[in-house]
Amino acid sequence: MSYRCRGCGYQSPKWLGRCPGCGQWESFEEVADPALAENVRGGDLPRPVSEVPALSGERLTTGMPEVDRVLGGLLPGTVVLFGGEPGVGKSTLLLQLASRLASQNGKVLYVSGEEAVSQVKLRADRLGVSEASLYLQSEQELLAIVRAVEAVEPAVLVVDSLQTVLARPDGGEIGSLVQVREAAAHLARLAKGLGMVTFLVSHITKGGEFAGPKTVEHLVDAAVQLEGVKEGDLRLLRCLKNRFGSTAEVAVLQMGPAGLTEVANPSMFFVSQDRAPKPGAAIVPVLEGSRTLLVEIQALVAPGGGYGPPQRRAAGLDLNRTSVLLAVIEKHLGVHVRAMDVYLAVAGGLDVREPAADLGVCAAILGSVRNRAIPADTVVLGEVGLSGEIRPVRRGPERLGEVAKLGFSRAIVPKGPLPKRLSLDVVQAPTLAEAMGALDLT
Ligand code: TYD
Ligand code: MG
Repeated sequence: MSYRCRGCGYQSPKWLGRCPGCGQWESFEEVADPALAENVRGGDLPRPVSEVPALSGERLTTGMPEVDRVLGGLLPGTVVLFGGEPGVGKSTLLLQLASRLASQNGKVLYVSGEEAVSQVKLRADRLGVSEASLYLQSEQELLAIVRAVEAVEPAVLVVDSLQTVLARPDGGEIGSLVQVREAAAHLARLAKGLGMVTFLVSHITKGGEFAGPKTVEHLVDAAVQLEGVKEGDLRLLRCLKNRFGSTAEVAVLQMGPAGLTEVANPSMFFVSQDRAPKPGAAIVPVLEGSRTLLVEIQALVAPGGGYGPPQRRAAGLDLNRTSVLLAVIEKHLGVHVRAMDVYLAVAGGLDVREPAADLGVCAAILGSVRNRAIPADTVVLGEVGLSGEIRPVRRGPERLGEVAKLGFSRAIVPKGPLPKRLSLDVVQAPTLAEAMGALDLT
């Protein structure tokens, strides 16, 4: 609200007795804020939920089932923030997706602000991408990108990357917070207005010092992140936010000479092929999103040098958590690990942060201490409590269902409900001692 003089039109944010403009007394009247009034006129009136039409339009799929599982099909106008560290494979995957989307849904415009068109073309050739309806452009100016969109009228736009868009001449250097925000906001509006699916690539760095995706996440419908697993060519595409679907899904992809391909059997990808039983290894069904992945936890327990504190390493596991587990083993099993050097690792380089892997960590440690192998057809699952009890885990029955399907025949698990008709020999152990007994490790 503001106030205006009836005589001369002088405006003031508060009521005044005498107009400073024309000198009239008691001439001020209340007026609605013009900017506000304008906005209100354009808005929709509230409607009962039952009368609001559902979002319509066909959901586009990329034709890569692993990726579609994460994106869940794209409604027209959906804006996807596509994050990842430099070099992880964002441009590669998006060029592949752009080509597949172009072959099924009409025109796709791929704008690179980092590479010349000829460089993108080189990558396209390498990936075997040659769709006629895939348009390439090398451009940094936002206005030029908008003009290109108007000219091509694509169903899908890829902007690679948000950090190379020059949104406004007075916005500071390219890649600055102002430029990135402005570019994201403008491109999101454009996407909504035209019903054009838009991918915005965004670099993130380990330190997170970048003017980052977090500052534009509220502007987009979905945010996904491409992550590299420490060793090798494996990539995980993870969903961080999704307005139109589930965020629980993870795609498992592999980088090769022809770009990113889907891994045939992700559930078994992380366990060694030979499956020969070895002392100090335990197989655990962990959850990545809603998917069960079998991972091998490895332990090496060796006598310490006797000088200074013993060595403790845990690659892919939480070191603090493993210290707690070592104390539980010491106390409740009476096995002296305190002075021993303990090295732990998750085979394949995956990060396992679930307490559900506790029992597997303990079994691997005990296996190394006893120099006894757990049979290759056996999995171990359970959280270990401080008093040596085994506690149930999230989605335990689903994991066991998967384990049975993958050909394992025995599982050591916490007490709790089990799936019906499970073709698995299940041992429900209430305590760590009983679990280790069932594995013949005591
Ligand atoms: P890139 O997609 O350029 O990463 P980003 O856009 O996230 O920075 O991919 C970079 C790496 O991928 C590069 O080291 C080369 C490798 N690569 C392959 O292994 N196979 C391929 O087919 C392609 C195109 C790239
Ligand atoms: Mg790139």
